[in-house]
Amino acid sequence: MLIDGHGRVVNYLRVSVTERCNFRCQYCMPEKPFSWTPKEKLLSFKELFLFIKVAIDEGVNKIRITGGEPLLRDDLDRFISMIHNYSSDIDLAITTNGYLLDTVAERLKRAGLKRLNISLDSLKPEVAHKIAQKDVLDRVLKGIDMALEVGLGVKINMVPLKGINDGEIIDIMEYCKARDIKVRYIEYMENRHAVDSLKGMHGKEILAKIKESYRINALGREGASPSFNYRTDDGYEFGLIDPHKHDFCESCNRIRLTAEGFLIPCLYFDEAQSIAKAVKSGDIDGASEVLRAVLRDKPKENRWRVDESIDDISARAFYETGG
Ligand code: 5AD
Ligand code: SF4
Repeated sequence: MLIDGHGRVVNYLRVSVTERCNFRCQYCMPEKPFSWTPKEKLLSFKELFLFIKVAIDEGVNKIRITGGEPLLRDDLDRFISMIHNYSSDIDLAITTNGYLLDTVAERLKRAGLKRLNISLDSLKPEVAHKIAQKDVLDRVLKGIDMALEVGLGVKINMVPLKGINDGEIIDIMEYCKARDIKVRYIEYMENRHAVDSLKGMHGKEILAKIKESYRINALGREGASPSFNYRTDDGYEFGLIDPHKHDFCESCNRIRLTAEGFLIPCLYFDEAQSIAKAVKSGDIDGASEVLRAVLRDKPKENRWRVDESIDDISARAFYETGG
């Protein structure tokens, strides 16, 4: 079992397989970065998998593949099946923008994928275009349909932004309810890469909007999930991801691995250590040592709550760490 320096059990690993993305979401990567990490610096699936095996052997039982946009990485289904074949009861999921999903959903399902989280910020083509800075809605909706058709579990992520998609909170809920899938509203997380003028909605404001249409009951956090769950009076369950809230970090069970091999203990901190050297030389003990060192240093809580000043937010981009 993996236990961090604050006594929290860590059983969840997020693996970013690429920082590249085919969208330019205003809240994440509005402009193409000055330079991408050169392809040679990316860890191969074999190298990533060596670390994943170490993590699974030590107690990780939940793995999420993220990006950038993970479906941009060729043959991602091969990577999924490597993990699935090693340990078929791992809770294995992908977070994607859905754009390429239509064509690969079936292959991913066959490789052993169980679940997908798909970003859907608007049901209006022009608003989706404004946020992603590309005409994306049609293909994303097709991707969602295909994922459901092949039997993958689907959750939808929406980031409500003031003056942009804040009028669609209920529309997205109705879309999800009709398909029997869960929506999770995510508070916009300020970061240096995002468009300056963006204003996110706080959890309370999101709930107030929903309360205009439904009475809701709080259900609580589901285990170590970052999502706080609610149920509407007609029985629909949705989640709210509220990293600004004070108890958000208490049950944190996760660490992150970037495509270059940096193991990151917390999204809001810049401390990270590299496993690249260890996995490139097949050094299992070395990889395990880095994992333990990073866990020892995992911070107690995210930096916003240590100091709420915007100047102190992490310079690390969400597209490197996979959100
Ligand atoms: N704030 C909140 N959510 C974000 N995501 C990406 N950047 C941000 C941000 N700045 C979310 C996307 C997607 C997931 C990968 O992370 O909406 O659902
Ligand atoms: Fe790409 Fe996801 Fe970032 Fe949008 S939020 S730019 S889809 S990585």
